[in-house]
Amino acid sequence: MGIPTYTLNDGTSLPAVGFGTYPLTGEDGVSAVVSAIENGYRLLDTAVNYRNETEVGEAIRRSGIARDELQVASKLPGRDHAYDDAIRSVHGSLERLGLDYLDLHLVHWPNPSRDRYAEAWRALVDLREQGLVRSIGVSNFTEAHLARIIDETGVTPSVNQIELHPYFPQVQMRAVNERLGIRTESWSPLGKRQAPFTEPPVAAAAAAHGVTPGQVILRWQVELGALPIPKSATPARQRENLDVFGFALSDDEVAAITALGRPDGRLFGGDPDTHEEM
Ligand SMILES: NC(=O)c1ccc[n+]([C@@H]2O[C@H](COP(=O)([O-])OP(=O)(O)OC[C@H]3O[C@@H](n4cnc5c(N)ncnc54)[C@H](OP(=O)(O)O)[C@@H]3O)[C@@H](O)[C@H]2O)c1
Repeated sequence: MGIPTYTLNDGTSLPAVGFGTYPLTGEDGVSAVVSAIENGYRLLDTAVNYRNETEVGEAIRRSGIARDELQVASKLPGRDHAYDDAIRSVHGSLERLGLDYLDLHLVHWPNPSRDRYAEAWRALVDLREQGLVRSIGVSNFTEAHLARIIDETGVTPSVNQIELHPYFPQVQMRAVNERLGIRTESWSPLGKRQAPFTEPPVAAAAAAHGVTPGQVILRWQVELGALPIPKSATPARQRENLDVFGFALSDDEVAAITALGRPDGRLFGGDPDTHEEM
């Protein structure tokens, strides 16, 4: 079954599930990304700070899949928020990837202590106008950060990539993104270190639908209208994580998984107001 797509507020579209590439590096990293492409992923999520843009570019060439059948997303690091640095940074990403355009580029973190994320956003707006980036977005932005950049530029991000998993379901931020017409992308969509695979609502839904707990969580993401980017270096899990369009969760199942959210559910270091990503 093909992967459904989400249409973004700029008229472009993204597959409803993408592939996370952190921390895949080196020859093993290239192989894992080639395998992901062979297994059907068409959206690859990298970042300058993952130090694997070269590997992702190499994997794209090795896969033999045409450039325009793939979507490549990268992220601007905190040290490059100043306007000229941001422009240079994106050119560097393109060079490492060996591509002449990016499908999506995100401001990786707002780094509010430095207070230059609006400048970074202006640079992305200009790069989109120049055609070097097809869609632009942000990551880890709160309602206040979003309001600031929209106010200063008149341009609303197409995507806000935020931590989102059953222990941190982001009820408020999902509503904020939706109100603004921004697609929510989910990082650590399986919960990473504390994958809630054995929680009763997840296990029960897996048994009821004859799927794995990981598939239940990723299907829950899709039911929420979020776009998860699970990472796996394992080909069988890569396939499993993409195979979530042959069943659906009931409203009650979705609600029970969302109810696993807890105040301390955020992964360590993930607070956008204090995290400093250089
Ligand atoms: N914007 C941001 O600030 C930010 C922050 C963090 C992450 N990200 C992005 O989000 C992507 C995904 O997040 P993540 O890697 O932190 O967490 P994740 O995708 O939730 O979890 C990845 C972990 O789960 C395992 N796994 C994957 N599929 C599985 C399955 N079906 N069953 C059991 N275990 C499974 C993987 O192991 P194996 O590899 O061994 O299969 C890996 O250890 C990253 O790769 C990155 O691209 C963005």
